[in-house]
Amino acid sequence: MCGIVGYIGHRQADELIIKGLERLEYRGYDSAGIAIINNGLAIFKKAGKVKALRKMIKTSDTSGTLGIGHTRWATHGEPNDKNAHPHMGNNGRLALVHNGIIENYAVLKSALMAEGHTFSSDTDTEVLVHLIEEIQKEGNLALEEAVRLALNRVEGAYAIAVVDRNNPGILVGARKQSPLLVGIGDNEFFIGSDASPFLDSTKRVVYLEDGQVACISLEKGLQLRNTANEEQPPFIQTLDLQIEALEKEGYEHFMLKEIYEQPKTILDAMRGRISSKESRVTLRGLEEYANRFVRANRIIIVACGTSYHSGLIGEYLIEDLARIPVEVEYASEFRYRNPILSERDIVIAISQSGETADTMAALELAKQKGAMIYGIVNSVGSSIARLTDAGSYIHAGPEIGVASTKAFTGQVTVLTLLALSLARKLSTISNTYFQTLVRELELIPSKVEEILKENDHIKYIAKEVKDHHNALYLGRGYNFPVALEGALKLKEISYVHAEGYPAAEMKHGPIALIDENMPVYVTATNKSAYDKIVSNVQEVVARKGRVIAIVNKGEKLIAKIADHVIEIPSTEEPLTPLLSVIPLQLLSYHIAVELGRNVDQPRNLAKSVTVE
Ligand code: M6R
Repeated sequence: MCGIVGYIGHRQADELIIKGLERLEYRGYDSAGIAIINNGLAIFKKAGKVKALRKMIKTSDTSGTLGIGHTRWATHGEPNDKNAHPHMGNNGRLALVHNGIIENYAVLKSALMAEGHTFSSDTDTEVLVHLIEEIQKEGNLALEEAVRLALNRVEGAYAIAVVDRNNPGILVGARKQSPLLVGIGDNEFFIGSDASPFLDSTKRVVYLEDGQVACISLEKGLQLRNTANEEQPPFIQTLDLQIEALEKEGYEHFMLKEIYEQPKTILDAMRGRISSKESRVTLRGLEEYANRFVRANRIIIVACGTSYHSGLIGEYLIEDLARIPVEVEYASEFRYRNPILSERDIVIAISQSGETADTMAALELAKQKGAMIYGIVNSVGSSIARLTDAGSYIHAGPEIGVASTKAFTGQVTVLTLLALSLARKLSTISNTYFQTLVRELELIPSKVEEILKENDHIKYIAKEVKDHHNALYLGRGYNFPVALEGALKLKEISYVHAEGYPAAEMKHGPIALIDENMPVYVTATNKSAYDKIVSNVQEVVARKGRVIAIVNKGEKLIAKIADHVIEIPSTEEPLTPLLSVIPLQLLSYHIAVELGRNVDQPRNLAKSVTVE
């Protein structure tokens, strides 16, 4: 949450920073601001999107080659001008931007007030800049040294960038539990919460480690120290990321682009890892730890949101195919309930961003307790990817729409590969069935293409149902987590209340909600539970509920009684989620567009949840 940008070099900083903030807006978009060092320190900040800030500074003097910027997702203090970052101390020298939470801010604030500091915002962040100012003042210290000493007194999570009017050649950054990268250009340097702000200038980056403080100047380059003041050599990596991936490329919204990318991203998640000709599934991360996996007592999957839903599908897949017991937990619950873990357990974290605070903390706990930790992550080089013992990237490319779509199918693809690979090693399924699943998996991208051709029909249905204020999503077996995911997609981008249920649970309560105003989205593509789900649809119809059913091509029974039917190609049951989720993503997208919502940046949300 919150995006940070910094620049020091020979070009004008303002436009580079504003453009960088626009790229980071997916991380938070309730207010934005910049600080530029010219002859003094100029700060501009504004509630609302980066667009509002851009307009505000149009006629101001923002010239200067050193600056920092921030786009905010509010934690402490409502989203308004005064709480927007950057924040300053009292003597007007320093400006600071921050992503994270300073947990002991109240204690620090009282102590600083006793020293005479006055505060002008309701944020935790402002306390940190006052603390740095106080330390700098006491010892007449260099900026980087004052920052380092201040961070030793701070509890919580942070990524920060700081500039000092009296040190116009230095940009300081630091991180703990929130991401921060340094981009190394040609006699210029960038700071970013991810690489998107500077990808068109450089692909050479240094990921800061927890507790590192970066001091950047054009004379000495990038110097790193930890908070214990030990010098640390920077490790420079070159990113394999294209700038086009950060653009809409003609689509109206990133979400739509990302839905349409899925034939490719599913293929990318399988690339080099699967071959029906060679009857093979190989996940490199898994191969290194194959013994640990086949001897595991159980696998625990931890994740949040959409990633939690793909984890549930992982549970069905791994138990069904590889016969290893699996538990799936919300990362936030797992970490606070004193779970029983041993060295024979494997904890898998699933995360698109690789930065989700609760998932990180759950992994850290699992590591402390001796479990092996494995990551299924999209964002290359992210904190979770670096913390885990091993893992598999999903290779979906940057996902910018706040609603996760292609990351979900990428995660499910990798979980399918994991389950198949384990099933092969443990001989828990026959060779023939293994071959059938591998062959079918290779066909999934083209079947997703086919579903995407139904877009106009799905848009028509969206127009028909858009005015209902509630919705129920039903599914059985492999399609139960898909029902949860469908409901989450609708809620988060259209603000329509929706719930997902196992279809058979409907009669234990939710059936009371059904009347002619309740659209019920039923996924009925699994052959094993087909008759049962037909009965569930009958039960809804009998109570005048409006049924929108996802069925296999040529299905007759449900097609006769449902209000709307979306036909999709059939596949093997364990692979059904990869197909049945696509119409639900499109339905949510079109309903949200019909309702005039901000699809890519829904209210109150942020893409990367780096606070607990
Ligand atoms: O980056 P992560 O996969 O760890 O994020 C987890 C959730 O925050 C995320 O899936 C969220 O629920 C999405 N907005 C869902 O579309």
